Amino acid sequence: MELSHLPPEILEAQREFPAALAACADLDALMRLKGAFVGRDGSHAARLMEQLKAAPKERKKDLGATVNALKNQWEEALKLRQGELERERTRAAALAKAWDPELPPPLPPQGALHPLNRLMDRMVEVFRPLGYHVEEGPEAETESFNFDGLNIPPDHPARGSADTFFFQGQADLLLRTHTSPVQVRVLRRIGARGADGVSELERRGGIRFLAPGRVYRKDEIDPTHSPMFHQVEGMIVGKGIGMHHLKGTLSYAMKALFGPAADVRFRPSYFPFVEPGAEMDVRCPLCGGSGCRVCKGSGWVELLGAGLLHPNILTMAGIDPGIWSGFAFGMGVERTAMMVSQTPDLRLFFENDQRFLRTMGGLD
Ligand code: DAH
Repeated sequence: MELSHLPPEILEAQREFPAALAACADLDALMRLKGAFVGRDGSHAARLMEQLKAAPKERKKDLGATVNALKNQWEEALKLRQGELERERTRAAALAKAWDPELPPPLPPQGALHPLNRLMDRMVEVFRPLGYHVEEGPEAETESFNFDGLNIPPDHPARGSADTFFFQGQADLLLRTHTSPVQVRVLRRIGARGADGVSELERRGGIRFLAPGRVYRKDEIDPTHSPMFHQVEGMIVGKGIGMHHLKGTLSYAMKALFGPAADVRFRPSYFPFVEPGAEMDVRCPLCGGSGCRVCKGSGWVELLGAGLLHPNILTMAGIDPGIWSGFAFGMGVERTAMMVSQTPDLRLFFENDQRFLRTMGGLD
């Protein structure tokens, strides 16, 4: 190929071509170089073709041969480099996906506590510094612990088979309808006098406990009802315990649970095992009290039942209500969880769809 009669800028470009080609680090750079050398408009090759057209007839043949040879050479070299860069890209992609021996091994999927268990654990942590420990009772309970020991009269509607799951063929056995029977079990245990004539209650000077757990009621499943749900029972027995302790303790606990701005109110209510009895509402965390869907426009959400221990409860457990007094409360866990996490449908807690469980941000 005789190049000497080509214009100087083409000679210069031809000299630099190999280095420019080698410097193309990726396909984008290569395409730019390709455009500059053999592209249809404005490239070195395009300009040579124009010069060829304008050349005197007698020079056309030689010049044409040179121009073609040069163009072919460029195209050939560009194609080779393109092949190299494409192979490099494929290899890099495969490497990126491949196992890297320097990385720690991938972790298997990790399990986590269910949001309802996390909430119950948090309740326990809130009360632990106040001296409350955890007590448990069986879910298959007797009528005597679930109702009689709690001063619930034999004709009370909740005792009917319309509301309560009874075991077939085992007259006295049922699925507990609340966590309150744990109160009766603990009171009987700590009220019983040992061989030395001293009860655990007297030895300790009182008792405080929480009893979180499952309870059962014959309810149809809907967005706010389930035949199985959770409660956290709490109880304190001591000397001189009054309504002011109940209110102070629960207000404190709600602030610890929901934040310092949490506001509570108590309304008189009736439960056979307390006197006086109350229901406690918290100011709706969703609307701040102005009224919304969650609080049904009232600005408040009912969270628990509570009251001062009825003297009969203590007497039945062998504890003298003239010396000892106390308070108890029972909180609905699902209701609290729904409120905190703004979950509109209770069933989500039991379906165990991981997409829901993972985004329970409000309960973290
Ligand atoms: N056991 C009651 C229920 O399930 C809740 C309750 C009310 C528990 C008052 C208590 C209490 O300890 O004092 O509806």
